[in-house]
Amino acid sequence: MSLSPAERYALSRQQRRQPRLAQFAAGLRFDLDPFQRASCAALDEGRSVLVAAPTGAGKTVVAEFAVFLAMNEPDAKVFYTTPIKALSNQKFQEFVDVWGAEAVGLLTGDTNVNSSARIVVMTTEVLRNMLYADSPLLDRLAYVVMDEVHYLADRFRGAVWEEVIIHLPEAVRLVSLSATVSNAEEFGDWLQAVRGDTDVIVSEERPVPLEQHVLVKAKLLDLFDSSGQAATHRVNPELQRVARAGGRSITTRSERGRRGGDRGRFHQPGQGSARIDRPEVVALLHGKHLLPAIFFIFSRAGCDQAVRQVLHAGVRLTEAAERDEIRAIVEARARMLRDEDLAVLGYWEWLEGLERGVAAHHAGMLPAFKEIVEELFQQKLLKVVFATETLALGVNMPARSVVLEKLEKFNGEARVPITPGEYTQLTGRAGRRGIDVEGHSVIQWVDGLDPEAVASLASRRSYPLNSSFKPTYNMAVNLVDQFGRERTRQILELSFAQFQADRAVVDLARTLRKQEESMVGYEEAMRCHLGDFSEYAGLRRRIGELERQASKGNPTHAQRERMQRELVGARKAMRAHPCHGCAEREQHARWAERWWRLKQEHDQLSRQIRTRTGQVAKRFDRVAEVLEVLGYLERDEHGALVSTSAGRILKRIYGERDLLVAEALRQGLWDGLDVAGLAAMAAALVYEPRRDDRGEQFKLPRGGFREAFERTTDVWSGLDDLEREHRLAGSEQPSPALSSAMYAWARGAGLGTVLTDTELAAGDFVRLAKQVVDLLDQVSIVADAEVGATARAAIDAVRRGVVAYGTVA
Ligand SMILES: Nc1ncnc2c1ncn2[C@@H]1O[C@H](COP(=O)(O)OP(=O)(O)OP(=O)(O)O)[C@@H](O)[C@H]1O
Ligand SMILES: [Mg+2]
Repeated sequence: MSLSPAERYALSRQQRRQPRLAQFAAGLRFDLDPFQRASCAALDEGRSVLVAAPTGAGKTVVAEFAVFLAMNEPDAKVFYTTPIKALSNQKFQEFVDVWGAEAVGLLTGDTNVNSSARIVVMTTEVLRNMLYADSPLLDRLAYVVMDEVHYLADRFRGAVWEEVIIHLPEAVRLVSLSATVSNAEEFGDWLQAVRGDTDVIVSEERPVPLEQHVLVKAKLLDLFDSSGQAATHRVNPELQRVARAGGRSITTRSERGRRGGDRGRFHQPGQGSARIDRPEVVALLHGKHLLPAIFFIFSRAGCDQAVRQVLHAGVRLTEAAERDEIRAIVEARARMLRDEDLAVLGYWEWLEGLERGVAAHHAGMLPAFKEIVEELFQQKLLKVVFATETLALGVNMPARSVVLEKLEKFNGEARVPITPGEYTQLTGRAGRRGIDVEGHSVIQWVDGLDPEAVASLASRRSYPLNSSFKPTYNMAVNLVDQFGRERTRQILELSFAQFQADRAVVDLARTLRKQEESMVGYEEAMRCHLGDFSEYAGLRRRIGELERQASKGNPTHAQRERMQRELVGARKAMRAHPCHGCAEREQHARWAERWWRLKQEHDQLSRQIRTRTGQVAKRFDRVAEVLEVLGYLERDEHGALVSTSAGRILKRIYGERDLLVAEALRQGLWDGLDVAGLAAMAAALVYEPRRDDRGEQFKLPRGGFREAFERTTDVWSGLDDLEREHRLAGSEQPSPALSSAMYAWARGAGLGTVLTDTELAAGDFVRLAKQVVDLLDQVSIVADAEVGATARAAIDAVRRGVVAYGTVA
């Protein structure tokens, strides 16, 4: 990027003013973009920052600057939080490369490396738990990076982001990195309201421009009209013609050339669907130098099938040297896996695909395999990846082209068109910075495709960020325990959920907090060594009031008499008060007066908030009622809500079924369970049943599980009634669908057996097992000695083989 003289001058001035930023920038192998420079400058000047920029724009640099700033102070710390473990692993490696292994830690629930390091990468949940536990690791924390902060909108996990943002100590600077959400300003306003000084930096410029195409048969047409000078948003007239003709107006020349006309099963020109098959699309992109490409296919089975199809057609996209390199990398990484597991995981077929430059990428795969695919892709060894949309999130894996075979996906219930936000996110993977002059998106033509609709998908700004925050049981005990009921309600008023519902309340609650702080200061200033000055001030105020009353209106004789008597009494009491003789009396009185006025305002504001209090605090009230009924919270002698010993169990149990787990532990329902039985129980509690599982009969593990599960379900049902009574939605009934598989696994069964029994993909099983370990870990901390020991043994029994296999530590 070349700068004008004026820009150069401005830059050099900034560099003099901000030597730390200049030093940081000098160490980079590229120049900072304006949005990066502005974001870093805000941090350098001590403000928090929200950066919203497209995929691949380079938001990480801002986080790296925060790390740089922290490391330039004597012993400041910085936490880097991400929503995804794979992303945490990636960042951890990057920081280790720059700062050395001693300086960097990693905490993801199943990995615990160097937790007291000055730079710690962690999942957002880990940080939330630390905040509630008031962990000593939070000492000297100066910066927190929240990568992919738009996860805040996630229906299941989003609340955690808000909890962290609300509870971080005030001195911590926050670096929030977000995709280009359409309401970044509103989100920024909220951050400003809860965290103080926050700059909002929005960049909508893609780092590499995007060329968009529609693939009709074997012809690649531009989506937009490129005949004019500048890029327009007019749909390519040729594409319009094709659309009107239903794809039939494309000539057959290219088809014949490519296919040799020997595939009778394909439609003849002019006969229906105008699509070529995948191997042909791959060959076509290869011929046009548009590889590497990511094909987004919205189903895992579809991805796997696509790989097979392409391999079957004999596609080979790698050179001999590349194949050697691929094999070496994969073998080095997979050495830890047992031979029998390799077979179950389809390792050989997978390796065959990798060597030919083709792979799938989706959540059904073993996480470690997914990471290998990412690594090979980043090293330019893979040319074609068939991926589900999870790839569009976070992981840095850009390609030259992105192919969309369809513009709709299955959302679990129905086929729905992809949204403009999703389209932006997916095509955000097209175009590698520093490698590609431009990125390409290729939409494959289907009958009835409307080019205008596609064009509008492509040119609109992304999706809005909406809060998914709601108070949970665990959150409620934690907050009440730390802050008491009133303060908790105020804190909940600070949530983005409430902010969006009623922007004003957040401002009021903040003012309230400020007022309270000032009042404490005033109390300090009016403190008198001779006695209780506020009592004295109260007397003076009363006298003033009585004098005012006496001077106005027409009181009856009797009234005047009574006022007079009271006035005389009050004056006497005032003169007798020890503070009356204080040399600094009038000075104290001025502070007392200020305190009083502020108190009036404060009370009025509190009333205002109470009447305006929205759903969040109301939901909290209901949650607190349920907890009080069950004895997790109780009233102390002053009527204040406090947590009980049972509450202290609930405080450490996180997740959808927090209350049920706490209740089961408290009632000793799992006391007799053996190691595998407890693992099976944990599986029933973390598993979210699929729609078609319900009402089905499952094979249940032997031993005490059956009875313990029945009793747990009874407790669930009691809770469900109670929640309904208190107008709360309650949790899903626990499902033992995967319990016997987890039971078998904990008793040493092979991966093959477990996967066949459950019809689970390896990736799903590993994810389930890790959630089980997570829950067992919580249980091991709060349960009594016996169950605690069983839980610890169960963790060891579950965390073995592919479950323990990862790329880090
Ligand atoms: N100013 C720059 N000039 C050139 N390359 C850059 C610049 N800033 C960052 N990059 C490179 O761009 C790539 C993508 O950056 P990064 O991963 O930070 O993107 P991101 O904004 O976090 O995207 P995502 O939304 O996908 O997380 C990295 O390889 C990075 O080194
Ligand atoms: Mg990023």
